Amino acid sequence: MRQSAPPKTYRVKSFGCQMNVYDGERMGELLGDKGMTPAAEGEDADLIVLNTCHIREKAAEKVYSDIGRLTKNGKQPMIAVAGCVAQAEGEEIMKRSPAVGMVVGPQAYHRLPDMIDKAARGERATDTDMPAETKFDALPRRRKVGPSAFLTIQEGCDKFCTYCVVPYTRGAEISRPFADLVTEAERLVASGAREITLLGQNVNAWSGEDAKGNSTGLEGLIKALAALPDLQRIRYTTSHPNDMSDALIAAHGEVEKLMPYLHLPVQSGSDRVLKAMNRSHTAESYLKLLERFREVRPDIALSGDFIVGFPGESDAEFEDTLKLVDEVRYAQAFSFKYSPRPGTPAAGMEGQIAREVMDERLQRLQAALNRDQLAFNRASEGKICDVLVERKGKHPGQWLGKSPWLQSVFFEGEAQIGDLVQVELAEAGPNSIRGRLLEKIAA
Ligand code: 5AD
Ligand code: SF4
Repeated sequence: MRQSAPPKTYRVKSFGCQMNVYDGERMGELLGDKGMTPAAEGEDADLIVLNTCHIREKAAEKVYSDIGRLTKNGKQPMIAVAGCVAQAEGEEIMKRSPAVGMVVGPQAYHRLPDMIDKAARGERATDTDMPAETKFDALPRRRKVGPSAFLTIQEGCDKFCTYCVVPYTRGAEISRPFADLVTEAERLVASGAREITLLGQNVNAWSGEDAKGNSTGLEGLIKALAALPDLQRIRYTTSHPNDMSDALIAAHGEVEKLMPYLHLPVQSGSDRVLKAMNRSHTAESYLKLLERFREVRPDIALSGDFIVGFPGESDAEFEDTLKLVDEVRYAQAFSFKYSPRPGTPAAGMEGQIAREVMDERLQRLQAALNRDQLAFNRASEGKICDVLVERKGKHPGQWLGKSPWLQSVFFEGEAQIGDLVQVELAEAGPNSIRGRLLEKIAA
């Protein structure tokens, strides 16, 4: 690799989950600390960080085509490949793509600044360590953020669902310490955050010791954050059914700032498929769990993840998934075709499902989920609720924000980004709701 001047501008492109968005923001802060500035819209950046996702199909191919695009017409930006593809296929990327100067895994990106110095000297570097000392201690203070901010509280996964790469790319489950999280949350609020979404691959497995030295689960952290006066809303994602504690369920009925929304992936409605997935819950135990949330918070909006076409999934087993959907009536959900991930047990299982069958199942599942999403939105018409204003809308004088149930709401009137306003939900569509501004509650 040739030597180059140290990069002055950067662009971080994050793919995939919200944890990657969080990591991407933190990488931006690290680069900012190094004196670099974000490249202006439409301008080439000196350093490009591709913060990749490996969860589903063609992840690596996407990286190579992005690299091809970035180096078109003889351009030679410094390129860093970060995220889960870096972790899983870093060496291969280095071999195949001489334009890549750095490969850095999700647990090592705090070392990015040193790697950039090396790359400027012409030395390529790969760092996919999962260091015992946590990267979070090495990251700079949070900077200015928008009204809705992410906070990673837990990382990694010990569940080993048979289809999933996360336990391999993100490593074992770790919980960040209580005190560090309260401090980071305070800084986010001081920088303008009014809503914090607590993130983790198994966020409800978070555990720690509170300020008094008592051990606590996620509910204790939520309650501590709810005491921050300027923080209006708390959310968390993604949860695993098996880590749901009584205390956390109860918190949904006790903590006003905890929003009435739960993302709880189920993946399939068939017990045989769930077993083959190593999910260690059944359709029935999942439904019972949701029932308990509805008891303490009757208006809770439910969301889930689904995989269709897991190896061996029969027509009847897929029908069980549709049955579960009919029973739950999700407010929102995410559904995917099964994608064999290299190195996972399911990739080698017999009975891989034909693409056309998966396509058809996905279409049917999505039709049912869309039907329920629209029904949920329609049932909200006439409700009066708070909306946290996140940005300007497409039209002049229009604002966009989220309802407590995570619906996108747009309305017109006097408001500013970061305001919490009272809105009547007037007209629901499948993906958003037109609201009527009633009054401002807090700025
Ligand atoms: N194929 C398809 N979907 C997957 N997911 C995870 N791994 C795979 C895979 N190999 C989905 C699951 C998970 C979500 C984040 O991505 O539904 O909950
Ligand atoms: Fe993947 Fe399962 Fe862990 Fe979720 S719980 S990250 S699907 S292994």
